[in-house]
Amino acid sequence: MTSRRLSRRGFLGALATAAVGVSGCGSLTTERSAVPLPSRLRLPTPFTVPLAVPATAEPTRDGTYEFVQEPARVEIIPGTRTEIWGYNGVFPGPTFDVRGQQPIKVRVVNKLPVPTSTHLHGGVTPPEFDGYPTHLVVPPQLTERFEPSGAHAAHAPSAWKLTPAEFVHEFPLDQPAATLWYHDHRMDFTAPQVYRGLAGMFLVRDAVEDALPLPRGDREIPLLICDRAFGEDGSMLYPSADPSLLGTPGVTGPYHQGVEGDVILVNGAPWPQAEVAAVRYRLRILNANNARRFDLRLDPPPPSGAAFTQIGSDVGLLARPQPLDRLVLASAERADVIVDFGAYPVGTHVVLRNHLGAGTTRDVMRFHITRRARDDSAVPATLADARRLSADQAVRRRRFDFRLSGPGPHGKLWMINGQPFDPASALASPELGTTELWTLTSDFHHPVHVHLGHFQVLSRNGRTPRASDTGWKDTVDVRPYEVVQILVRFDGFRGRYVMHCHNLEHEDMAMMANIDVS
Ligand code: C2O
Ligand code: CU
Ligand code: CU
Repeated sequence: MTSRRLSRRGFLGALATAAVGVSGCGSLTTERSAVPLPSRLRLPTPFTVPLAVPATAEPTRDGTYEFVQEPARVEIIPGTRTEIWGYNGVFPGPTFDVRGQQPIKVRVVNKLPVPTSTHLHGGVTPPEFDGYPTHLVVPPQLTERFEPSGAHAAHAPSAWKLTPAEFVHEFPLDQPAATLWYHDHRMDFTAPQVYRGLAGMFLVRDAVEDALPLPRGDREIPLLICDRAFGEDGSMLYPSADPSLLGTPGVTGPYHQGVEGDVILVNGAPWPQAEVAAVRYRLRILNANNARRFDLRLDPPPPSGAAFTQIGSDVGLLARPQPLDRLVLASAERADVIVDFGAYPVGTHVVLRNHLGAGTTRDVMRFHITRRARDDSAVPATLADARRLSADQAVRRRRFDFRLSGPGPHGKLWMINGQPFDPASALASPELGTTELWTLTSDFHHPVHVHLGHFQVLSRNGRTPRASDTGWKDTVDVRPYEVVQILVRFDGFRGRYVMHCHNLEHEDMAMMANIDVS
C-alpha cells in the first residue's frame, strides 16, 4: 500500500497493534479514562488570559454562509504561535446564530492538506448533507492522487463520494431551539482533525425561546471546552500514527483509549478568566473533548441556591428548569444552564472546576464578579413543551454493545455488536416516524451518539436516569459495564446515517455503525 492512499488494511493492521494497549487493562473501570498527553512548554498561569467569545458567522448577500477551512497561526499559549486548522482560520470556528424552520446553506471550501467532511451535530439534516464519513471534500492539490483503496474501497466503492475543493451543505433546521455544534467527520481521521481546530458552536433559536425572559446579549455565553497538549514550539501535540493524516489512521503508544491533553481551553484560551456582573448569565456549555469526561462544579458554590439551573440539554429546552450542583458531561454532550452570579458578593472569584480532572486539568476557567448591574432576566417555571416518550410507544427493541472485541482476523478492536465499522452494511433499519427502545451496554466509557435520531434516556442500570440525562438528547454517557436504555425517535429524513462512540479515538478506530432510516 502507498502511504498516500487511504487503506482499510493499513487501518486494521494499525488497530491490531493498538489493541495490545487496552486488552486486559485493569484501569477500564476507573473514572480516568486515558493516559494524559503532557505538554512540552511552559504553561501559562491559570486565569490570566481573558475569555473570548467566537465571532458570529454572517451570511453573504444571497444567504449562504461561506466557510473556508484553512491553516492559520494563532496565539493560544501566550508568547507562542500554534498552527491550527480552522473554519475561516479560527478556532473555535465562528458561532452560527440561526432560527429554526429557516433553512440555510453553508459552502465549505477545503484549503487544508487533507480531505474533510463537515457534520452538524444534533442537526436534523438530509443524509447527503449530514457529513457522512466517506463523503469527502478533497482539496485541489490532492484530487489527482487521493483515492480510497484497500479492503474498504473493494467492499464499498459506492460508499465513497469525493467532491473536489468545495461542497454546499443545505440545513433545513426544522427543529426546536437548541445548542448544537459542528465539526469534522472524516472517515478514520475525525479525532486528529477536530483536535487541530475543526469545531464550532451552532445555536438554533425559535419563538418559544424568544418568549422566555432568559439572559441574552453579552449575558449569554457559549463555552466550547476542550483539552489540548502543546509541543515546545507551540504546536498542537497529537499522537498520530501518521502525522500527515494521509496514510495509516489511528494513534500510537498508550493513547488508544482516547487522547487527553493537559491544557484546558475554553473558546480556544487556556484556563481563561471572564469578568462578569453580579447577575444571571446563560452559559451554553459543550464538552468538545476528544475523550475527557467532565464533572463541572463551581468553587466556591453559591451561598444559597444551586450552582447551575439547567434549562436545555443536547437538542432542546427542558420542560422545566432543573437545579444542579454538578454537570456531568461526556464528549459531545451540551448543557444550557443559568448561573446567578448575583448570589455572590461583588469581588468574588468563582472557579469552574472539573472534579474528574487532576493537576492542570482540574481547573477550567474563572469568573470574576466585578460589578453590580440591573437584572431583568428570570428563569420561568416552565420552559418548553417537551413531551415525554414512554416505552409502550416503542415499535422495536434493539441492543447495541460497545466493547473492545476480538480477537478476530485483525486482533482486538473497538466495536459495536462485535463488528468494526463497515460503510457498506447497516446494523439497523428503523422506520421513519417511529420510536424504538435501544439498550446500550459497554465495557468502558463510551459516549454514544446517534445522528438524526433524538432520544430520551429511559433508564440507567434499571433505575431512573440521572439528572444530567434529562431532556431530548443526541449523545448519552455510557459508563463501564452500564446498561442504558434510550427511547429514540427517527423523524425528518430517510437514508443512511451513522451512530458511533463520540470518544473520537474510538470512533476513528471502528466504533461506528450505519443506521438506515427507511
Ligand atoms: Cu459529533 Cu457523528 O458526531
Ligand atoms: Cu452527530
Ligand atoms: Cu468509546
